[in-house]
Amino acid sequence: MAVTASKDYPAAGVQTWNPERYARWAGFVPEFGVAVLGLLAPRAGEKILDLGCGDGSLTERIIDSGASVVGVDASAEQVAAAKGRGVDARVVEGQSLDFRQEFDAVFSNAALHWMRPPDRVAAGVWRALKPGGRFVGELGGKGNIETITGALTEGLERRGIDAAALTPWYFPGVEEFTALLQGAGFRVPKMELFPRPTHIPGGIEDWLWTFCEGFLMAVPDGGRRAFIAELEDALAPELADGRGRWSVDYVRLRFHAVRD
Ligand code: BEZ
Repeated sequence: MAVTASKDYPAAGVQTWNPERYARWAGFVPEFGVAVLGLLAPRAGEKILDLGCGDGSLTERIIDSGASVVGVDASAEQVAAAKGRGVDARVVEGQSLDFRQEFDAVFSNAALHWMRPPDRVAAGVWRALKPGGRFVGELGGKGNIETITGALTEGLERRGIDAAALTPWYFPGVEEFTALLQGAGFRVPKMELFPRPTHIPGGIEDWLWTFCEGFLMAVPDGGRRAFIAELEDALAPELADGRGRWSVDYVRLRFHAVRD
């Protein structure tokens, strides 16, 4: 997903999405999203927007409920993969939603933290919902992947590279995200922040290439291998167990909001 820079945030690093790489190293993302689908509780006949649908694997689950679903994602590659599953998927950035009172619900799993500025996203979701419609989702919350962002920042700054300028994410806390949604016109019956340390399928290098490409590519070719080795050494004491199995220090922010 290419990330849009705005006046209010530093310029972002560019992240690309390869559906095969994503399925191999990030298959746990839609698996954990099944719990968020429980909160959405889609019903037959409803019209639902899946915001940041990725390769459509969770979108398919919503379709299974009998709802009619549109998926949007900023990555043309992921949208092509979603279409391959038969999903009505479209290349649209979350900051540029152009729907008017079309949906009973908007759902989003592990995608909103890539979409900035968040107030434009919230305004577009509000417009897209019918009155009474719900916005249900989960994103990275305050403290998310802090061990990793700390190591990236230190390693890049040692090389004279400004890590903040490459950071594409938005990880709000409960109060901040509640205020943001209320500012867009939502009522917010549920907002919950919780740690979810997560075993990952490969090593930390696979995870970094899947999600932090913009940071790795900021280091010139000749120094990148040493940078990655240095990150592994810095992160292993916190994130790897004695048998070399890696976890990531995810923190989730899960919410249910309503357009009255
Ligand atoms: C996540 O919280 O899902 C996430 C955030 C940044 C990079 C990768 C994953």
